[in-house]
Amino acid sequence: MHGRLLSVIAALSLFAPFGAARGQISPAEFSARRDSLAVRIGSGVLVAFGGRTPVSDFGPFYQLPAFHYLTNFDEPDAAFVMVVKDGHPASTIFVMPIDPRVAFYYGRRPDSATVTHTLGVAARGFAALGGVVDSLASTGLPFYTLADFADADFARQDSLTRGTVFMRALLARHPGLVVKDAHPMVNDLRAHKSAAEIALLKRAAEISSAAHIAVMRAPEPRHEYEIQAVLEGTFTRLGGERPAYGSIVGAGRNGTQLHYMLDRGPANPGDIVVIDAATQYEGYAADITRSIPVSGKYTPDQRAIYQLVRDAQAAAERNSKPGMLAAAATDSSVAIRAKGLARLGLIQSVDATFDPPWKVDCAAQPAQCRQSVLWMIHGIGHGLGLAVHDPAQYYTGERRFREGDAFTIEPGIYISMDALAALPDTPKNRAFIAAVRPMVERYNNTGVRIEDDYVITPQGLEWMSSAPREMSEIEAIMAKRPARK
Ligand code: GLY
Ligand code: MN
Ligand code: MN
Repeated sequence: MHGRLLSVIAALSLFAPFGAARGQISPAEFSARRDSLAVRIGSGVLVAFGGRTPVSDFGPFYQLPAFHYLTNFDEPDAAFVMVVKDGHPASTIFVMPIDPRVAFYYGRRPDSATVTHTLGVAARGFAALGGVVDSLASTGLPFYTLADFADADFARQDSLTRGTVFMRALLARHPGLVVKDAHPMVNDLRAHKSAAEIALLKRAAEISSAAHIAVMRAPEPRHEYEIQAVLEGTFTRLGGERPAYGSIVGAGRNGTQLHYMLDRGPANPGDIVVIDAATQYEGYAADITRSIPVSGKYTPDQRAIYQLVRDAQAAAERNSKPGMLAAAATDSSVAIRAKGLARLGLIQSVDATFDPPWKVDCAAQPAQCRQSVLWMIHGIGHGLGLAVHDPAQYYTGERRFREGDAFTIEPGIYISMDALAALPDTPKNRAFIAAVRPMVERYNNTGVRIEDDYVITPQGLEWMSSAPREMSEIEAIMAKRPARK
C-alpha cells in the first residue's frame, strides 16, 4: 500500500518541474491514445499544431483540446508529428523556445530533453520542423493534419490559422501530396471517456453544481454580474481552473438570447434568470444551466413554461440508456415540448410549420420548419470532455449510446416578441403570428433552459450535475436567502 502510494507520488512528481502538463491522466493513457490513432492511420504522417501564445489580451495560455489529448504538452506554439508505419507510431513534439527575457514574465519553458524525460515523447526544437516535414513529404506516405482551432464552432472556410498556413505552404512545395483531416479519427477516440477522464468530468460537474447552489443561496441580486461573481468565485475557490465558456447570466429578455455573455443587465423581481455556467477542471468541462426566479418564486406563467422544459428533459433522460438511439432521446423530448407549446397557444399545432429566417430546405428537413423550433432553435445536447462542445455530438444521426459517452441534455423554451419580429413576411408567417401573438405577448421575455451533464455507465445513465432543478427545491433554497446588506 505504502509502496504503491510512493510510486504514485513519484509518477505525479514527474510533472512537477514545469507547468507544461497536467498530471491526473497517466502518461500510459496518453501513449495509448497515440497508439489507437496510429492503428487507425495504418501508415502515414500526422502533423498537428498546438495553440498560439495569446495575442489578443494578457490572458493565460490554454492548450487546444485535440493537441492536449494526444500530447499532454500544454505550452504554446508547439507542433506534433507522428510518423506511423504498419500501425506503429514514432512521435515527436516540436517545442518553441521562449525568449529568456520573456521567460521572466511568463515562466520558463521546458527544453527538448526535459520534455522527452517528463512526457516520454521525443522532442526537438521548433526550428527543425520544416526540414523534418519536407523530408517526410518525399516518402510518399499520406499526410494527416489536425487543424488548429479550439472548437469546430469557430472554424470557417477562410480562417487562416498557423497550421493552415503551414500545410498550404507544404502543399505548394510538394504538389500532389495527399493531406487528409485527422479530426474525425481523433474525435472518435475522444468520444469514449476513460475512467480517469470521467473522474475529472465529475469533479468539474460537482464544483459547477456547488456554484449554482451558491447562487440560489445568495441574497436577491439586482444585477446579472452579481450572479456571475458568485458563480466564478465558487469555481475558483473549489479549484476550478477557469469557466468552461463565458458565463451566461441573462435576466428577463436577456435570458431569451441563447449565448448571452455580457452579464451587465439588471435583474428585476419578476424576471427569470437563465444561468448557464460551469467550470473547467484539469482541462475537462462541465456545462450546467439553471433558470431561477430573481424574486425567489416562479409566477404561474413561468411555472407552466418551466415544467414543460423539465418534462422534456426527463423524457430525454428516460431514453438515454446504453444501446438506445440518440435520435430517440431527442425525438421524445421534442414531442413533449411541442405538445406543451400547442397547449399553451404558442404554436398553432404540434406539426404546424413556419418559414424560418435562415436558409433551410423545409421539403428535405420538415422538422426544422416546425413552429416549435422557433422557441428552441438549439439541439438537445452535445458531447462533453476537453471541450464544452466535445466533438462527438449525440443529437444527430443513428448513433446509439455507449458506455463512456459523456454529454448534456439541455432543452429550453425562449419566448420573445423579438423572435416573431425576426420572421420573414410570408403568408404562412403572417397566419402564425396572428394566431399566437396574444400568448407570445403574455409570455414575452420568458427564457428557461435546464441543462445537466451525464455519463453512460454499465448501470445506465449517471447524472453528474446534481444542483437542484425542480421548482419546489429551488424555491425552498431561495426562501432561506439572507437579506441584502
Ligand atoms: N453553454 C453552452 C451550451 O450549453 O451549449
Ligand atoms: Mn450545453
Ligand atoms: Mn450550457
